[in-house]
Amino acid sequence: MKNILVTGGAGFIGTNFVYYITGKGYNVTVLDKLTYAGGKDNLEPLIAAGKVRFVEGDICDKDIVVSSLKGCDSVIHFAAESHNTRSETDPDLFYRTNVHGTKVVLESAFEGGVKKFIHISTDEVYGSIVDGYFAEGDKKLGDSQATSAYSKSKSQADDLAMEFGRNYPVVVLRPTNNFGPWQYPEKALPRWISNIILGEKIPLWGEGLQVRDWLYAPLTAECLEFLLEKGEAGNAYNVAANHNPEITNRQAAEWICEMLGVDKNEWIQYIPDPRPNHDFRYALNVDKITSLGFKPAVDPYAQFKATVEWYKANAEWWKKRKEEAESIYK
Ligand SMILES: NC(=O)c1ccc[n+]([C@@H]2O[C@H](COP(=O)([O-])OP(=O)(O)OC[C@H]3O[C@@H](n4cnc5c(N)ncnc54)[C@H](O)[C@@H]3O)[C@@H](O)[C@H]2O)c1
Repeated sequence: MKNILVTGGAGFIGTNFVYYITGKGYNVTVLDKLTYAGGKDNLEPLIAAGKVRFVEGDICDKDIVVSSLKGCDSVIHFAAESHNTRSETDPDLFYRTNVHGTKVVLESAFEGGVKKFIHISTDEVYGSIVDGYFAEGDKKLGDSQATSAYSKSKSQADDLAMEFGRNYPVVVLRPTNNFGPWQYPEKALPRWISNIILGEKIPLWGEGLQVRDWLYAPLTAECLEFLLEKGEAGNAYNVAANHNPEITNRQAAEWICEMLGVDKNEWIQYIPDPRPNHDFRYALNVDKITSLGFKPAVDPYAQFKATVEWYKANAEWWKKRKEEAESIYK
């Protein structure tokens, strides 16, 4: 299975995956609507080198999905509206893309005889957990565990993919929060890094004690390559870094200050949490994927540092996006 359709391949994790997998000799077609979050510029070197065929289009448009699938034997489905804060103001868009769009891609793929389909879900389908870890079987049908329009739409899409997995070769991956190069600066880590580089403070929500299990996006790419070969149809898999000790948002912000050489006591500004029901802690049990043979090489401080260095070296990339990204917090 060396011919892959990657939906949402011009977004953050998609771009990381496309660089990784073309480096392994796979032929890639990217289907992407190029919303605010998609950047064809991310992939330009690969398109120019003939390693990626790029199709601009909407996953809700069946004709374009079917034509993009020509010659592809597998699908990695990233395309989604992905931002919690935005989902509060336009939930319908999130349901259209994340639920209906996923159904169109699943139906088209199996009408076209695709041999493997990996749907990218999220740890947010389980909701928040105070202690302990969610295993794959802990997801309830429907969206009752999820707390935002984003996570509810992803929860319904996850159910759809699992339903298709009863009859077709579908695998569902539920990763924790990713970070790394090419992440749009609306999201916490690139927002904080770019703020400091611009001489602005980091706005930390609440006391900054929320826990996220930060997973470096290149590791998610490796995990997907592993699942293309080893993932068993009809199964969902968690993937996480499982940091020990866990990383609070405050810790993450303090590391970023340290890496950029500024005083955390001056550069972190605590502000009231703007999100009602803000999930406090995500934590996943990864026994299932570990026993299948995948264990990510986690080194959070080094991977945060590599990310900070990428944003320092690629200011042109994020400066084009910064104003739009900040507008949603006004
Ligand atoms: N970023 C994370 O921390 C994280 C964690 C777990 C799961 N996920 C999931 O991984 C996937 C990718 O996340 P991301 O952070 O890279 O998102 P992103 O917002 O950076 O990228 C999404 C991509 O999808 C494209 N897209 C949006 N609507 C589309 C449509 N209707 N048709 C075609 N393309 C469309 C966008 O143009 C963009 O290129 C999503 O499904 C997300 O739910 C993300």
